[in-house]
Amino acid sequence: MESKRIAAEQAVELVKEGMKVGLGTGSTAYWAIQAIGRRVKEEGLNIQAVATSVQSEQLAKELGIPMMSFADVDVLDLTIDGADEVDSGLHLIKGGGGALLREKIVAAASKQLIIIVDESKVVNQLGKFPLPVEIVPFAFELTVKKLRNLGCEPKLRKNGEELFVTDNGNYIADCEFAAIADPAALHDELNGIPGVVDNGLFIHMANLVIVGSADGSIRSIS
Ligand code: A5P
Repeated sequence: MESKRIAAEQAVELVKEGMKVGLGTGSTAYWAIQAIGRRVKEEGLNIQAVATSVQSEQLAKELGIPMMSFADVDVLDLTIDGADEVDSGLHLIKGGGGALLREKIVAAASKQLIIIVDESKVVNQLGKFPLPVEIVPFAFELTVKKLRNLGCEPKLRKNGEELFVTDNGNYIADCEFAAIADPAALHDELNGIPGVVDNGLFIHMANLVIVGSADGSIRSIS
């Protein structure tokens, strides 16, 4: 928790007056939203934000962070978000919290995507973390078979006894690939399956990864 918090707080120093900011989702992004809320309250920092999940939006509103409508967004200056895995080429697996689609939409609208993680998320090769794939409920059994044909073991994410439903009303298939040799190719193959809305591979999207360690040190990958 400490390593996540220090990475988040370092990233929030990059937020400047007047910026349009994307707020990530998850336990690391939580600390970034807290730190932004503090700067808004204590320094009178003037920003406008959009959130990547209902959960993050609620937290931001509670903290008094001014939120804007997507109708007023063309380009965001900066988005700060977590990740489940990061490789040295700045490719990411995201979606452990189920927010991958909104996260990708917001990241794609951002001039800069800053990723905040602890050391456990930095890997040599992506794939140990099961890749989240967002699929529409219609014919989901068929979509899952097509995913399996790509050489993974997909598991539909559950929320207790029920299937997990994303903020967009879709399901998540967590796909065990073990190792992903060519993330860019897999990204395109997955998104080529009708029924797949998007997948948790973020290729050439992150500009900077800030890594916090348990000993209080921070390093970055860019
Ligand atoms: C949310 O869907 C995810 O992409 C998160 O950003 C990712 O799972 C990292 O979450 P933590 O910061 O909670 O590990």
